[in-house]
Amino acid sequence: MDDNRQAFCEALASAVSSRTGPQPFRYVEIGVAKGGTLAAMCEAMDAYPDLHWTAMGLDIPAKDRTGYFREKATKQTVGAWLSGIYPDLESIKPLERRGWAAIVLRPSFEVLPTLEPPLDFLFIDGCHGYNCVRRDFELAEPLLRVGSVVAFHDTNPRAQGWHQQAHCQTGIEVRRFLMDVGLLDNSRPGFVKTHETGERARMGGAVVVQKIHG
Ligand SMILES: C[S@@+](CC[C@H](N)C(=O)[O-])C[C@H]1O[C@@H](n2cnc3c(N)ncnc32)[C@H](O)[C@@H]1O
Repeated sequence: MDDNRQAFCEALASAVSSRTGPQPFRYVEIGVAKGGTLAAMCEAMDAYPDLHWTAMGLDIPAKDRTGYFREKATKQTVGAWLSGIYPDLESIKPLERRGWAAIVLRPSFEVLPTLEPPLDFLFIDGCHGYNCVRRDFELAEPLLRVGSVVAFHDTNPRAQGWHQQAHCQTGIEVRRFLMDVGLLDNSRPGFVKTHETGERARMGGAVVVQKIHG
């Protein structure tokens, strides 16, 4: 998340401060790849001394036609925070520490419908085709609480239409989805766009939104 670090850290602070219950703070990342952002988020959450947090990364094994998960790189990057890489949710073994991460090698559209709310911070960074981004957001929306944050990657205007996505077989279409559902121009009730990064860069960029009422 190098190009988005400041935005993600500010959004994290907002999601942490808006929590009400005693349950662990939950970060979910759709699409882990080599674990760069997952590790950065673990580090950022761990910097809150009293925060009990869990992180869950979802990805698809690299042997699958649409998967780019890199196990060796992720183990190195996420390091001591990583409890394991699992075939399903039921196999997860928590670590005996106040913050830990698990990776589940199942696609988002299988896992999201089985999760209990709330998710505190969701990073949507799987397939960037229109239909997949829409499905990821729609499946996750019921899991959000007031104050939850959702970040979308590859929102840069110049990246749209490029980079054929293995699953959807289209280029990147994140921005068109955000526009259609009113998350880019703040016309969607209940959400506010808090950050937009990398508008002038060639690739990447992120849009961060926060749920502000039910
Ligand atoms: C752009 S990379 C993720 C990069 C990572 N978030 C980072 O910041 O370092 C996209 C990843 O999403 C995975 N992916 C694609 N569709 C997915 C889905 N439906 N569920 C989970 N992962 C998915 C791919 O296998 C790939 O590893």
